[in-house]
Amino acid sequence: MIEKPSYLGLLNAISNAEGDAQQYLSAWAETTQRDDVRAIISTIALREGEHSLAFAKRMCELGYDVQRREDAKCAERLAIASSCDLSDLDKFEQLGLGEPEVEGCPDIFAGMFADTTIDIQTGALLGRYIAEERDSGRMFRACRDALACEAAPAAAAPERLDRIEALLEQLVTKLAS
Ligand SMILES: [Fe+2]
Repeated sequence: MIEKPSYLGLLNAISNAEGDAQQYLSAWAETTQRDDVRAIISTIALREGEHSLAFAKRMCELGYDVQRREDAKCAERLAIASSCDLSDLDKFEQLGLGEPEVEGCPDIFAGMFADTTIDIQTGALLGRYIAEERDSGRMFRACRDALACEAAPAAAAPERLDRIEALLEQLVTKLAS
């Protein structure tokens, strides 16, 4: 009998977490008043949902089912994301998304390839997943920074407005390419 892969728990955890993220990001996309923010949040929500399914599919291919794990924080995140009273910037802050990177500090994905037994197909999926997650992180940070600039008292200065517009334009152009 083929031995149970040691990385099954990682695949299961990713599938669960990404499914939860799709849920609350979709709720945010539905409630934001801004098309530019919606374009970013919807893109990332779709990525999360696809990751959840792709990892569930990989587990099935390996002969295992996803074990659904309830995250105690999921309901709280959903309430924040679907709120019509909170601003988009509030949501970034309360969900802890788009936080600045800490220089010299490895991100949560850095150790995912430490297991040297990962098979080729799973490794390819994991590599794409990590690259997309890091890209999503950059999109979150750029969007949050732009919203923070806009909310700052000096936002009325024309050069700041130009900077905000340029940041959002860059993001939307990137999404369209
Ligand atoms: Fe994710």
